[in-house]
Amino acid sequence: MAFMSKKSIFLFSFFSLFSLVLFCHAIDRITKGQSIKDGETLVSADENFELGFFNPGNSSLRYFGIWYHKILGQPVIWVANRKNPISGTKGSFAFGEDGNFTVKDGNNISVWSSNSPVPSVDSAVAILENEGNLKLLGSDNITVYWESFDNPTDTFLPNMRILASSGVQKSFSSWKSATDPSPGNFAMGVDSNGAPQMVLWENSRRRWRSGYWDGQIFTGVPNMTSIANFKYGFKYINDGNGNYYFTYNPANSSDFMRFHITWDGYEEQLKWNESENKWDRMQIQPANNCELYNYCGNFGVCKALANPECRCMEGFVPRNQEQWAKGNWSGGV
Ligand SMILES: *[C@@H]1O[C@H](CO)[C@@H](O)[C@H](O)[C@H]1NC(C)=O
Ligand SMILES: *[C@@H]1O[C@H](CO)[C@@H](O)[C@H](O)[C@H]1NC(C)=O
Ligand SMILES: *[C@@H]1O[C@H](CO)[C@@H](O)[C@H](O)[C@H]1NC(C)=O
Ligand SMILES: *[C@@H]1O[C@H](CO)[C@@H](O)[C@H](O)[C@H]1NC(C)=O
Ligand SMILES: *[C@@H]1O[C@H](CO)[C@@H](O)[C@H](O)[C@H]1NC(C)=O
Ligand SMILES: *[C@@H]1O[C@H](CO)[C@@H](O)[C@H](O)[C@H]1NC(C)=O
Ligand SMILES: *[C@@H]1O[C@H](CO)[C@@H](O)[C@H](O)[C@H]1NC(C)=O
Ligand SMILES: *[C@@H]1O[C@H](CO)[C@@H](O)[C@H](O)[C@H]1NC(C)=O
Repeated sequence: MAFMSKKSIFLFSFFSLFSLVLFCHAIDRITKGQSIKDGETLVSADENFELGFFNPGNSSLRYFGIWYHKILGQPVIWVANRKNPISGTKGSFAFGEDGNFTVKDGNNISVWSSNSPVPSVDSAVAILENEGNLKLLGSDNITVYWESFDNPTDTFLPNMRILASSGVQKSFSSWKSATDPSPGNFAMGVDSNGAPQMVLWENSRRRWRSGYWDGQIFTGVPNMTSIANFKYGFKYINDGNGNYYFTYNPANSSDFMRFHITWDGYEEQLKWNESENKWDRMQIQPANNCELYNYCGNFGVCKALANPECRCMEGFVPRNQEQWAKGNWSGGV
């Protein structure tokens, strides 16, 4: 009996320690003097998002970023030092003396800074919020000096706002490859000259556009015209200071949904399917060659899956008949 009770005491203290570890792990904020070292993470209060160091796929380089905490494969939604990866696992994240957030490598050299210092750093807080937003707050816990939602990488999350009243705004940029988060060839954002629309660029060239926002939908996104498929929850909002933004919320707020630009140039909308443990793709753009910007030239007419895909508007002929015959539509009509 004595042996048994010792064992129960052992088990009891083991589980107390275990829950303490769990409890200590679920920290969602740090203040000045604290840091996140490689191997440590912050987890948002709802445990949906996690912040720390990771290496993408088979890359050995370390990046500081945010990913889905509970979802298979822990997809990354934001990266800080995308241009300056760290080799080795001695990186750290903390407030600098100057009030900026900084990511440093093992030699104490800054590889990334928020570049937006909080004035009274002694009472500042860095917090990973439930939406997946890393915020730098002042001593009142309210004033936001910097937030990752204002400095996105390739992912457009629910409740993120993108500016839609300032000409051409390239808010998102793709990764360079599946395992390299440095900025790639593709960008996405809003062209607000005239009625606003979403645009996907390949370098400086337009690759795809959503069509104008008509107050409820983007007129050029095929599935958006159908009420049955209207699960996007897009909103065009005004902050009261003359700025307009696009934002969105899934119909069911407990759904995990994200838009992102793939490294090879597609804008896709994904929703996590809990029962099947996979992402369901709700849409992908450009969906076919006809969606590519100006694919058949100014006076060409495009028909998806038709053969040939391009034909001329009545009264026009191809500029380069020989190339058109080969299916090279780039010369236009
Ligand atoms: C990583 O994996 C990809 C595809 O599986 C491969 O092409 C690439 O060479 C690998 N890179 C390294 C550094 O092993
Ligand atoms: C890193 O730099 C900080 C000041 O920015 C200093 O306090 C600390 O001692 C340095 N650590 C190492 C290992 O050099
Ligand atoms: C911190 O931010 C300020 C203001 O943007 C900038 O002048 C300073 O160089 C930054 N510090 C670092 C280490 O980036
Ligand atoms: C800010 O939040 C922390 C908890 O994170 C709390 O201890 C502190 O009192 C709050 N400060 C103010 C001014 O509300
Ligand atoms: C929202 O999603 C949750 C989890 O998938 C589900 O349990 C709930 O029934 C859904 N609510 C509605 C209104 O569909
Ligand atoms: C999850 O995926 C399965 C199989 O593709 C599908 O039948 C089911 O409707 C999906 N669940 C949700 C909530 O979309
Ligand atoms: C429209 O939705 C259907 C099913 O929901 C999907 O199969 C199709 O690929 C979508 N079309 C586009 C252009 O995304
Ligand atoms: C397509 O045609 C254009 C002229 O219209 C030509 O400059 C270009 O080289 C052609 N592309 C290919 C892949 O043949």
